[in-house]
Amino acid sequence: MKMENSMEIEENKIRSAYIHIPFCKKICSYCDFCKNYYNENVVKLYLEALKKEIKRNYKNELLNTLYIGGGTPSCLNYNELDVLFEITKLFKLSDDCEFTFECNYEDITDELLSLLKKNRVNRLSIGLQTFNDKYEKILNKKIDKNLMIKNVNLCKRYFDNINVDLIYALPDEKMDDLEKDLNEIIKLNVNHISTYALMIEKHTILYVNNFKELNDDVQSKMYYKIVNKLKSNGYDHYEISNFSKKGYESKHNLNYWKNEKYYGFGAGASGFVNKIRYDNTKSAYNYINGKRMIYKEKITKNTEINDYVMLSLRMINGIDKRLFKRKYNKSIEDVFDYKKLINDKLLIETESNLFIPSDKLFVSNEIIIRLLDSYILNK
Ligand SMILES: C[S@@+](CC[C@H](N)C(=O)[O-])C[C@H]1O[C@@H](n2cnc3c(N)ncnc32)[C@H](O)[C@@H]1O
Ligand code: SF4
Repeated sequence: MKMENSMEIEENKIRSAYIHIPFCKKICSYCDFCKNYYNENVVKLYLEALKKEIKRNYKNELLNTLYIGGGTPSCLNYNELDVLFEITKLFKLSDDCEFTFECNYEDITDELLSLLKKNRVNRLSIGLQTFNDKYEKILNKKIDKNLMIKNVNLCKRYFDNINVDLIYALPDEKMDDLEKDLNEIIKLNVNHISTYALMIEKHTILYVNNFKELNDDVQSKMYYKIVNKLKSNGYDHYEISNFSKKGYESKHNLNYWKNEKYYGFGAGASGFVNKIRYDNTKSAYNYINGKRMIYKEKITKNTEINDYVMLSLRMINGIDKRLFKRKYNKSIEDVFDYKKLINDKLLIETESNLFIPSDKLFVSNEIIIRLLDSYILNK
């Protein structure tokens, strides 16, 4: 009993923090994230507001993961990065804390990498997206394959934990185009790869210009091609969109998919703290002016269970049934009636786990919705 209590207390502690840096030198045509054109004066005020938010809310927990994302954190100049890293010193980091920093490949230099290393960063995430320069104009993004390769190799001299992002299902992309991108990405031999099908989001240039997503059949073929190719080249498929070499899974994202608590600091950041989910304003200007939180929801136990299931099923190992029982004091089969999903071969159950079969991952959203609909508690 005593042990269970201490485990509960341990599980409730916040171990992760995300910091959003919403500045980019150029705006990609597909991007719906919180971002603004880089401006020195705004960055200065933003970093001051960020420091205030962290000082006011961070309660000195020992963090296992810290993630600085964007936007493009690497577009800050070295003085601004010095200020940012002074701010990150407010955090107490565990000895093996995973500290990720997102970079634009064009910003990578020896000086930047040394600065990151000096400030305890030990993981880089680089948004390459594609090596195919026919997309340069459509994506409004510089695509210089040689520079990508040169700079990722430079990163490898400083860091072994490197992620690169790939976007597939680009406008009019063919299987051959994808094959070439995959070959290039595999040659980079980095330890982590994230892959995303292009989403045409409202309020983006692609949407305004009437670009359409590729149809589901093509997307699905591309998805399974990626999965097979990366798996046969030594990558472990550990989450719907994520692949890693053994031991290089993203600790930060795993924390999120396990529905654990985390701080989100900065404009556009979200957090989950003390049973409360919150979103900060996406406006850097409101953020600077102290109008920080725009959404706050107290999470009930039922919502927490739903979130846990929804997020856990993104992982290839799915739901850990024992962990579920420990967290929620009920067995998963007492909360959801998923026999039909198993009969329909949409879920697989073992003694320890409940997960989506690999050939159904592309339709995971539909499966998750059906599982959530089978909620039986309180009925
Ligand atoms: C918000 S970005 C931040 C990283 C960095 N600014 C960059 O672009 O490299 C994180 C990742 O989300 C993915 N992403 C952004 N917009 C997307 C979209 N509309 N469809 C699919 N993936 C997208 C890209 O792979 C990108 O690297
Ligand atoms: S995708 Fe990344 S670099 Fe491009 S505009 Fe969005 S945040 Fe900036």
